[in-house]
Amino acid sequence: MQTISLMKEKLPYEINEELKLLRTNILFCGADKRVLLVTSAFSGEGKSTVTLDLCRSLAELGKSVLLIDSDMRKSVLKKKVISQLPENGLSHYLSGQCTLNEVICETETPLFYTVLNGAVPPNPTELLASENMKRLMAFCRDNFDYVIIDSPPVGLVVDPAVIAPLCDGILILIEANEVKYRLAQEVVAKMQATNCPILGVVLNKVSGKKFGKSYGKYYGKKYKAYYA
Ligand SMILES: Nc1ncnc2c1ncn2[C@@H]1O[C@H](COP(=O)(O)OP(=O)(O)O)[C@@H](O)[C@H]1O
Ligand SMILES: [Mg+2]
Repeated sequence: MQTISLMKEKLPYEINEELKLLRTNILFCGADKRVLLVTSAFSGEGKSTVTLDLCRSLAELGKSVLLIDSDMRKSVLKKKVISQLPENGLSHYLSGQCTLNEVICETETPLFYTVLNGAVPPNPTELLASENMKRLMAFCRDNFDYVIIDSPPVGLVVDPAVIAPLCDGILILIEANEVKYRLAQEVVAKMQATNCPILGVVLNKVSGKKFGKSYGKYYGKKYKAYYA
């Protein structure tokens, strides 16, 4: 298994606290909520950033975590790799070009593993709907405490809705002051149609007096009651 190094930014204290709150809320969702999908309306809202920090945070707590970068069109995670990139990624495995062992990478954070997206394929949605994807998810579910899937925006492509039936729960990330209420409702409706439960919403890039700068905030319980 290849080991990769991922860039690590030192997060401000307040963001770290919000991440811990997000982690705690996820842990309290129950032992049957271990395979989670993260999505949002658009790109750039902060899915990949929050997902990566969340995975590290769960690993630091002693949970084994696998982050799957399912955005085969545009990968942010790949750009954060500061060591040699693995030859194969998700698209290679799903199209039958390599084995599972060749795509799961260890990271420098103990217990934190990742599958990068691989080369851009012509048919990402079809690959995500393939039998190989089901096989990958079944293996990961059996071998990690948490499997977190970073996905492309549901406002632009159908991919998150294709993956959701293989997951235990969905986290929707919304960028504060950017995504209109009606659009957020559309995202929720699209994900609800998959029958995979929405566990909560992360309101990201919130500016506030308390924080001065942007930070991520989890509103899981509040939104759960609202949308469920
Ligand atoms: N809470 C935050 N505060 C400030 N900047 C953020 C925050 N979350 C993400 N970003 C920045 O927003 C940009 C887009 O984030 P990214 O995670 O790539 O979004 P997505 O995966 O949804 O496309 C990145 O430059 C990232 O550093
Ligand atoms: Mg992303």
